[in-house]
Amino acid sequence: MPVDILVGTQWGDEGKGKLIDVLTRDVDMVVRFQGGNNAGHTVEIGSERYVLHLVPSGIFRKGVRCVIGNGLVVDPVALTEEMKGIAEKGFDVSAIELSNRAQLIFEYHKRADVLNEAGAGSKKIGTTKRGIGPAYADKMHRCGIRAIDLTAPERLEPQFRTEAAKYNKLFSEHGIAQLDIDAEWERVKEAAAYLAPRVCDTVYSINAALKEGKKILCEGAQGALLDIDHGTYPFVTSSNTTSGGACTGAGIAPQHIRDSWGVIKAYTTRVGEGPFPTELFDEAGEQLRQVGREFGATTGRPRRCGWFDAVAAHYACMVDGINKLAVTKLDVLDSFEKIAICVAYEIDGRITKEFPASIAELQAVKPVLEWLPGWQCETSGATCWNDLPENARNYLKRMAELVDSSIAVVSVGPRRDQTFMV
Ligand code: GDP
Ligand code: IMO
Ligand code: MG
Repeated sequence: MPVDILVGTQWGDEGKGKLIDVLTRDVDMVVRFQGGNNAGHTVEIGSERYVLHLVPSGIFRKGVRCVIGNGLVVDPVALTEEMKGIAEKGFDVSAIELSNRAQLIFEYHKRADVLNEAGAGSKKIGTTKRGIGPAYADKMHRCGIRAIDLTAPERLEPQFRTEAAKYNKLFSEHGIAQLDIDAEWERVKEAAAYLAPRVCDTVYSINAALKEGKKILCEGAQGALLDIDHGTYPFVTSSNTTSGGACTGAGIAPQHIRDSWGVIKAYTTRVGEGPFPTELFDEAGEQLRQVGREFGATTGRPRRCGWFDAVAAHYACMVDGINKLAVTKLDVLDSFEKIAICVAYEIDGRITKEFPASIAELQAVKPVLEWLPGWQCETSGATCWNDLPENARNYLKRMAELVDSSIAVVSVGPRRDQTFMV
């Protein structure tokens, strides 16, 4: 069976967790392939609301194997806490596999993240402070520690102590609190003991499942505009969030990939710093935030809100090769009398439909807006395309046309049943 990939096409928080949960109705394995616990993926089942950070969003479906792939940076203490929390709620976490090749995040990475941000001034990224950037930097510097060493504390301990001492030197140079290495090692050791049975060679298990004809869905974190290569660099995260990242981050060869699902919010949000051409600072922006409950699932920060940016989303869908769009949060637009879509950028008097690489240009963008009439009625009960008011259908058609893809799913609320195939 081929592999499908699902990624965010904006600045994250598009509703990927919800979509993964819905799509895993008929999937055998869900694989996270990049990022870490900077992600916050919400799944609502009945009246329960779960937020996942490292555990794949297929965990609530019985019998679905959940893989944390080699491309991630994993905080063992945070993962242990998350898994215990899920187990306490009655779900089986024994189907979780952690790649032995995944990189580990330790307390010193988190402190370094905070330190980098504190000294960055106007270059502050507004990270989630989970140590993501420093851990990926260590990976590239080839001094990272991998999950395989969780299974051998005698190998893990000296590496951990060496790296921690190195960071402590840095902290003392900056006059910030040193890490208590002994105390921290105790926490790491405990987490290692909990996680060790879950550590395995996921590249083999994924490829064996493929051979057996199992259906695999890869779960992206963040979104294309936060991609280290394609996003609004340097205001990005430190991994490849675009669909290509699934091949390297899971160990799956490109010929196995079938569909690229792109989750796309009916408007745009961003959390953290960096350019955001369609950002709204008026009542409409506040309305999107309140109605859409746009507050970070990981950090609780209010998300910046704006109109749908078709220039940025088109770039994302092109790079991701999106052939199936899942539009989420259509219901949030229900009460607007008219709704804008950004169809082009004006930069220094020049009109373009191309997403610029230059941050200075992105910051100078004046969005060229096209206004569409709203529908001003509730869509959250819609169960099929024809249930939607005509103006909502037209809005969706225009979104799809502008990003040059086709809509496969529409989501009109956070619950599983508020989703329909088109
Ligand atoms: P993710 O990071 O892409 O998984 O998205 P988040 O979970 O961070 O944020 C999406 C939020 O929107 C969550 O609170 C979801 O429960 C909620 N959500 C998802 N789809 C819809 C939808 O169609 N309508 C509404 N109103 N909320 C939705
Ligand atoms: P999900 O998977 C939204 C943002 C941060 C910051 C930048 C870098 O829930 O969509 P990092 O901690 O990764 O070094 O921060 O990326 N960011 C996200 N924004 N959703 C996410 O994940 C994000 N993960 C990171 O706010 O701007
Ligand atoms: Mg999120």
